[in-house]
Amino acid sequence: MSNYVLSTIDSLYAGMVVPQNIYNADMSLLLVTEGSVLTEARIEQLKRFHDGLGKIYISAETEKLINKRNELLREAPSTRALEDETGYTGIKEETIAILEKISHDGSVSVPTLYSVSEDLSRAVDVTAPSVIVDLVSALASADEYLQRHCINVGLLNGLIGKWLGMSKEDVDTLILVGLLHDCGKASIPSKILAAPRPLTVVEFEVVKTHPGYSGMLMNDFPEVVKRAARAHHEKFNGSGYPDGLAGDKIPLMGRITAVSDIYDAMVSRRSYKNPNSPFKILSVIDELRDRDLDGRLVDVFVTKMSEELQGKQVVLTDGRVASVISIEPRMLEYPVVQVGGEIIYTNLNLSCLSLYYDSEEDDDDYDYENSIEAFL
Ligand SMILES: [Fe+2]
Repeated sequence: MSNYVLSTIDSLYAGMVVPQNIYNADMSLLLVTEGSVLTEARIEQLKRFHDGLGKIYISAETEKLINKRNELLREAPSTRALEDETGYTGIKEETIAILEKISHDGSVSVPTLYSVSEDLSRAVDVTAPSVIVDLVSALASADEYLQRHCINVGLLNGLIGKWLGMSKEDVDTLILVGLLHDCGKASIPSKILAAPRPLTVVEFEVVKTHPGYSGMLMNDFPEVVKRAARAHHEKFNGSGYPDGLAGDKIPLMGRITAVSDIYDAMVSRRSYKNPNSPFKILSVIDELRDRDLDGRLVDVFVTKMSEELQGKQVVLTDGRVASVISIEPRMLEYPVVQVGGEIIYTNLNLSCLSLYYDSEEDDDDYDYENSIEAFL
């Protein structure tokens, strides 16, 4: 057992073919046998039965697999290029200023906020939805989570509003709601927000106060914005917070923000988790219909996102870059892809890890005319 190292259950991932046995922290118990394919259900089961610190012993070989995957999911250098090319970088800097002011003196800089919100509205007006999907799905650093989250939920809200055929005025309000919905989080202690582990019950109770804080910070904003932002953690079946609203009692803009919020939270890297692929997220969102999310919104989101993801380049779990050929409604997590002449039906063992954006290659084709920056 000399080649064994201490690791955590969180480092395991679904689809891993375990090269050598995995043991518990004192090596008294065999947890996973060599050659098994890990599923999410199995990992969840391990977490439930071996809680506490979730420590496990894995072989150097298993660690190598985990490191390879982490390497494929590290922040892509092309993310910066994409953000610079589209004007996202400037929007990010302004958003950081808003969040810093909230955590510093508990107040919102209304002019800066409206300026960012207008930039996002223009972006949603003039940027191809496909580019917005690239922006919100880019591999980024966990340190940037909160500012990216506010911007991305604003952008996704804008996309959904347009897909639903809402008026320009309503789309703009939705974008503002997305941008503001989590600003209350800037008042939550960072040691809780950035905890490199799942939260304790008490810590989660503190986090649950953030929709209320967001509402309080928005005194100067229209009622429709405050109500929607407050409702972004309500669930369609009534089991959410802070007010336990259900169905159409949840303001429509709150229901939309809940969809955008889940997409962005899952696609983002956090200190305790790797980003999920857009395909995995669509399958999760699809399953949440009529339980956490409004099924009618889920239908629109999943259909439109699938259309946008069609033809995109992706990184596979074996490191190859492939093109998405088709996404079937019942197989959202596992699209059919192509590498050179080879058609691959992705599956648990060989799946999509993330979108692939190659700034060098796309330079010639990039549509600067339609970038956000051209209109700022
Ligand atoms: Fe939230």
